[in-house]
Parts: sequence; C-alpha cells; structure tokens
Amino acid sequence: MRGFGAAIGILAVLSGSASALAAEDKDTIEYRQHIMKALDAQVAVLGMILSGAAPEDNLQSHLDTIALISQGALQSFEAKVPGGESTPEVWTKWADFQQRMNTFAAATVKVATIMREQGKDAIMSEVAPALSCKSCHDVYRVKK
Ligand code: HEC
Repeated sequence: MRGFGAAIGILAVLSGSASALAAEDKDTIEYRQHIMKALDAQVAVLGMILSGAAPEDNLQSHLDTIALISQGALQSFEAKVPGGESTPEVWTKWADFQQRMNTFAAATVKVATIMREQGKDAIMSEVAPALSCKSCHDVYRVKK
C-alpha cells in the first residue's frame, strides 16, 4: 500500500472546489451522497430483477439492503451542513424532511417484510409507491 497516502494527497489537491470547504463538512456531504448512491445502485438492481433482466435469487437481500440503508439515511442529514445537491429546505423544513425519510424507510421495510412472508407476486404493486425517491428530490435535491 505504499503510495496510497500520496495518491490520497493528490486526489485532495485535484478536487479544487471542494477544498474550499472545511474537511469535515466535505466528509459530511460525501457521506450522505454515498448513502444515496448506494440506494441508487440497489434500486437499479431491483429494477433489473423485477423486469426479468437479472436473476431473482437475491431479491430478498436487495430488498433488505434497501430497507437497511433507508433506515440509516436520515442520520446522514442530521448534521446541518448545507451544500452538495441538498436544498437549504432540508434543514429549514427539517420536520417535513424527517417525516418523508421516515415514511420512505418504513415503506421499504414493509416491502422487504411482505417479500419474506408472501413472496415476489405480493410485492409487485408495493415497490413503486414505496420508492418515494423522486417526490423527495423534487423538493429537497437541487435540480440540474
Ligand atoms: C426524504 C428525502 C429523500 C429520499 C426519500 C431519497 N433521497 Fe436521494 N437525495 C436526497 C437529497 C437531499 C439529496 C442531495 C444530497 C446532497 O448532495 O447533499 C439526494 C441525492 C441523491 C443522489 C445523488 C447522490 C450524489 O452522488 O450526489 C442519488 C443518486 C439519490 N439521491 C438517489 C435516491 C434514490 C434511488 C432514492 C430512493 C430509493 C432516494 N434517493 C431517496 C433526498 C432523498
């Protein structure tokens, strides 16, 4: 792993605009973004499975993973560090943001539970309404 430290140093220098932020604020923002990206990857896999493009052997574990990540997502926004793609409303309307994230997490847990108890057919109509990603992003994520 020699050179790893140097590589990190170079990466830090290269990420010019971000270096203006205090290092810990940058970490806070990156942390929540990584959590969102993890959700994104899991939802992409879920879509592949449900559309028949990928085998369904691991459907339960992907649903469980989405439920787990969702339950931890709110915590990653608790530190009030505006920036990234978050709109300031995340913190000025925290009660609403919190409620949406909790509703989202509860819905994903419910889908994983239905899958475990009743199987794939029973979740087909439940998945899309549970994934309230877009309705939250419409308010709380900066549009590009
Ligand atoms: C309750 C609100 C909320 C929910 C629900 C939510 N997100 Fe997000 N998401 C955000 C916010 C806020 C950001 C901006 C984070 C930042 O950059 O500061 C974001 C950012 C992202 C990003 C960009 C991450 C990056 O690298 O910058 C992706 C991808 C994403 N969300 C995917 C999802 C997916 C997929 C779901 C649903 C399965 C989801 N989100 C559910 C609020 C939410």
